[in-house]
Amino acid sequence: MKVLCFGSLNIDYTYKVDHFVKKGETLSSESLKVFSGGKGLNQSIALAKAGVETFHAGAVGEDGGFLLEELQKAGVNTDCVTVREDVRTGNAIIQNDREGDNCILLYGGANQAITKEQVDTVLARFEHGDFLVLQNEINELSYIMEQAHRKGMKIILNPSPMNEKILGLPLDSVDYFLLNEVEAGQILSRDVTKRFDGEALAKELLQRFPTAAIVLTMGGAGSVYLDKEEMVRQPVCKVQAVDTTAAGDTFTGFFIGGILRGSSVKESMEMASRAAAIAVTRRGAAPSIPLLEEVECFSEEK
Ligand code: RIB
Repeated sequence: MKVLCFGSLNIDYTYKVDHFVKKGETLSSESLKVFSGGKGLNQSIALAKAGVETFHAGAVGEDGGFLLEELQKAGVNTDCVTVREDVRTGNAIIQNDREGDNCILLYGGANQAITKEQVDTVLARFEHGDFLVLQNEINELSYIMEQAHRKGMKIILNPSPMNEKILGLPLDSVDYFLLNEVEAGQILSRDVTKRFDGEALAKELLQRFPTAAIVLTMGGAGSVYLDKEEMVRQPVCKVQAVDTTAAGDTFTGFFIGGILRGSSVKESMEMASRAAAIAVTRRGAAPSIPLLEEVECFSEEK
């Protein structure tokens, strides 16, 4: 069984700021750091660090070589990443404020230049029972899902960043949804200005997609797993956050990693929660993702 993550690769320009810049304001940043990132790349690295043999597919420009090196260093196979001469690598402008929160502006670049031919070539290397991990930072998602489903691959979708494109995807073919309350609310066409009850949303999502498993993250309230047989609640681990970038990607990679290594849902949720807690104590996206041994040794701040 192989795992393919078909997703974005970004150069993250991370600016440390006191607060997020407001409309009409010019703000000096305290520092600029350049990190490897992109939800796809981060999740591939988290999967590999969680101990799963991982293949990454996607596209970069000629300026994206260091992203491939970062993936390879973590043990990810990058043979399915196309290096394009005609387009630059995707990037993200990230503001990281004094509370450790972030806001992100994306430029798609090569991530939005995936072709159907590339999809066909990549998927030809995978077969029935292999896993496909997707997020929402590349184009051709519908085609990828249709072709993968036809082959009998298991589809894991993290519908992030959420936008109207997600609602047009063949969501009935998804085996695992990993998402937050706002994303779940939008899939269920809820008024996103209202507060959501996370567990109720997970139950409704399961009614709508009864063959899927739902992993819903609820910020400080932890996360919940739900399928037609079991429900597992997982509290968050308490830590001092310095940068929340890639915490969700780390959670996703370690949860799926745990399931694929044969751990129970409960153990996988615990590992994912610990891994995400470690990630928020470190700056940057991919560089903040811990190794499996670090996650196993982690103990919460009291
Ligand atoms: O989830 C974090 C990621 O979102 C960052 O690495 C950034 O590139 C954006 O894709």
